[in-house]
Amino acid sequence: MERNINTIGVLTSGGDAPGMNAAIRAVTRSARYHNMNVVGIMRGYQGLIEKEFVKFTSSSVSNTIQRGGTILKTARCGAFMTPEGRKTAYDNMVEAGIDALIVIGGNGSLTGAQLFAREYDIPIIGLPGTIDNDLYGTDSTIGYDSALNTIVECVDKIRDTANSHDRIFFIEVMGRDAGFLAQNSAIASGAEAAIIPEDSTDVDQLAEFIERGKRKSKNSAIVLVSEAQKNGVGGAFYYAERIKKEYPQFDARVTILGHLQRGGTPSAYDRILASRMGYAAIEALLEGQRNIMVGIKNDEIVYVPISRAIKMDKPINKELIAVLNVLSM
Ligand code: F6P
Repeated sequence: MERNINTIGVLTSGGDAPGMNAAIRAVTRSARYHNMNVVGIMRGYQGLIEKEFVKFTSSSVSNTIQRGGTILKTARCGAFMTPEGRKTAYDNMVEAGIDALIVIGGNGSLTGAQLFAREYDIPIIGLPGTIDNDLYGTDSTIGYDSALNTIVECVDKIRDTANSHDRIFFIEVMGRDAGFLAQNSAIASGAEAAIIPEDSTDVDQLAEFIERGKRKSKNSAIVLVSEAQKNGVGGAFYYAERIKKEYPQFDARVTILGHLQRGGTPSAYDRILASRMGYAAIEALLEGQRNIMVGIKNDEIVYVPISRAIKMDKPINKELIAVLNVLSM
């Protein structure tokens, strides 16, 4: 259904991710190019509920493409997950004359967008902004590449100590329930193993890793561990404790990289991705698209229904597991 869109609202929601500013910039400048008004909504859905609206011009986004975090600020908004919160948000949008919404965020944020779009007649376009890379229908999310680079830089440093002391380091990385960051940073840093939730749950990944290590007679090792836990099992401390009890001959240490992974200047890849996606979001609106997420597949921009993107079933390419196992020999 085509309709006139004069004013768009743009917000960032959930965890910040490097490249969000590049996306805001692209959305703002593309919309202004088509003479649409742009309203920056502060603090995600919280700002929609509390009417934290700022008029955006092209110069509002000057000098932002290289900055990490989000100039619109962000929040995880419990109130928006209630029907009352969404009603207030909708009334505020109508009052401010906002005809369409661009939501830049991860799984939780797009789930909120999906609920909102079901209840109210608003075109919503989602942009995948999260370091977790856990949205279906896109090869990469905005922020994932930058976070990977940050992790690899840290692991390179930790390896000096691992080598010098003959230690096993369990390095815990973010990703919520997904192992993309752990698996790919393990490959990129030449780590000995990755422990990720997508790998078979029947196999004890720690025992398997120790067995492999014995065969290879390595004295030091780096294991990238996804933060995901299942029934209290998982995380770097869990595996380090097990080493202490089950393999006391090894000297194990833990590093939790934490929010270090979310900060910093976005990589060139993320800046380009965010710019292409922000531009595509406005094109999509002009084409009459609604309730889709902009994704990238084989370097082509694609539109995915938001309902599909958030299903939490993006698979990890099994080849990545084989690559790490073979190359860590
Ligand atoms: O979704 C991004 C993310 O960084 C996850 O990887 C992590 O589990 C979570 O957010 C941490 O959230 P918070 O910053 O609210 O502690």
